[in-house]
Amino acid sequence: MSDTRSLRVALLGAGTVGGHVARLLLEHHDELAARAGISLDLVGIAVRDVNAKRAVDLPAELFTTDAETLIQGADIVVELIGGIEPAKSYILAAIGSGADVVTGNKALLAEHGAEIFAAAARVGAEVYYEAAVAAAIPIIRPLRDSLAGDHVERILAIVNGSTNYILDRMDRFGDSMEDAQRVALELGYLEADPTLDVEGYDAAQKAAILAGLAFHTTVPAAGVHREGISSITLEDVESAREAGYVIKLLAIAERVADDAGVEGVSARVHPALVRRDHPLASVHGGNNAVFVEAEAAGPLMFYGAGAGGVQTASAVLGDVVSIARRHLAGGVGVGESVAADLPVHPIGAAETRYRISLEVDDRPGVLAELAGILASRGVSVETLQQSTSAADASASAVASDDVAASGEADRATATLVIGTHSARDAALAAAVEALAASDAVESVRSVLRIEGA
Ligand code: NDP
Ligand code: HSE
Repeated sequence: MSDTRSLRVALLGAGTVGGHVARLLLEHHDELAARAGISLDLVGIAVRDVNAKRAVDLPAELFTTDAETLIQGADIVVELIGGIEPAKSYILAAIGSGADVVTGNKALLAEHGAEIFAAAARVGAEVYYEAAVAAAIPIIRPLRDSLAGDHVERILAIVNGSTNYILDRMDRFGDSMEDAQRVALELGYLEADPTLDVEGYDAAQKAAILAGLAFHTTVPAAGVHREGISSITLEDVESAREAGYVIKLLAIAERVADDAGVEGVSARVHPALVRRDHPLASVHGGNNAVFVEAEAAGPLMFYGAGAGGVQTASAVLGDVVSIARRHLAGGVGVGESVAADLPVHPIGAAETRYRISLEVDDRPGVLAELAGILASRGVSVETLQQSTSAADASASAVASDDVAASGEADRATATLVIGTHSARDAALAAAVEALAASDAVESVRSVLRIEGA
């Protein structure tokens, strides 16, 4: 150790992540002190219930329910409570009392990050949050520091492990959406409220953080377009596989210019078709990966565990050591860079490709009609695949009075899969709406974006 002083570390929360952070701070005390250059002393752990049974055995005398008092005496406050309040008030109190902060709280940073970073900047404090996106995977510091001299063009990321687990089961084992969700729930992959994962809220919070960092801009969670995976069927997954794709829930952040040529940021979360030879296609189970495309560095992929108590604790402890090193070096915290201050554009400004699966009338002139609808919206067809519809075959086989009475049995249909060239999402969405309204279209079976090609 190069210094005999110590830094007082206050831990807020001793749950899945906090319990391991406390254990590792105690077990690896001397090693961490040697690396940081200063002793990191865990002075207390604030929880709701000091008598609660815990997965990790920790000294009883460290526990308190008085978070406010604990914060006042700390140099570094590690917030691992989660949620908005009281986590936000505790973090602001810590900054106000001169402490630096480590947090893994993506929900809080996505909603109130700007306020927290501004408070820290006013007093020269640090707020580190490596665990907030993709848990154990180092991605915050690479974006904030390592790529600070580059020009990030785009990020495609799998940042929600439970939905990746569900989609991966459907793809590899042929599970239905319901069965895959049930297994994910049984294995504890899903949050207590599964809609946070399944409907993309968790991924959208992480997308907001990634987009802000990558483009030096404040991106609020409300600025992230969000679609979940609940509408994805096994049929979609199998059809994607036949075409050489896998379906992933992607968090995407990219630079785009809108129709007026104004450069801005597009941040969105939605299921997408990813080519099977893309690095993200090989991210299986509950793992996460962040694929960064930078002007000078080219493509980079960060991969690993996106959740888990001990895995996430690794990222938290890295932040604690970094803060300790800066304490020793002296000076004020670096703070967040929002210098670019770009506008956040709506999903309509994004450029993407669609794969549209339609049930259409099988009669002369239909293809020309549908191609005309697409062309009139500025959407160009790249691929077209037609097959005789299973629905048609069964319609003629089933002697249903209702069907026969309505004349539907005589109506030959085909399945048409249209792959488009790249176009504005607004144009593609308008084209799908017009296709759905066409007399030639029986139904729109699925619409999926193709990303990463
Ligand atoms: P848990 O729910 O397991 O633990 C929360 C802890 O906070 C508990 O110890 C609880 O106390 C304590 N707590 C709750 N409310 C209060 C309060 N009002 N005052 C004091 N303490 C309180 O959460 P996790 O450990 O899973 O997550 C912590 C953070 O890390 C969250 O922001 C989460 O998003 C983030 N994160 C989690 C990951 C994971 O894999 N779990 C991955 C990446 C990030 P008590 O024990 O007494 O109930
Ligand atoms: N619910 C999250 C996930 C946990 O499935 O990835 C980690 O943030």
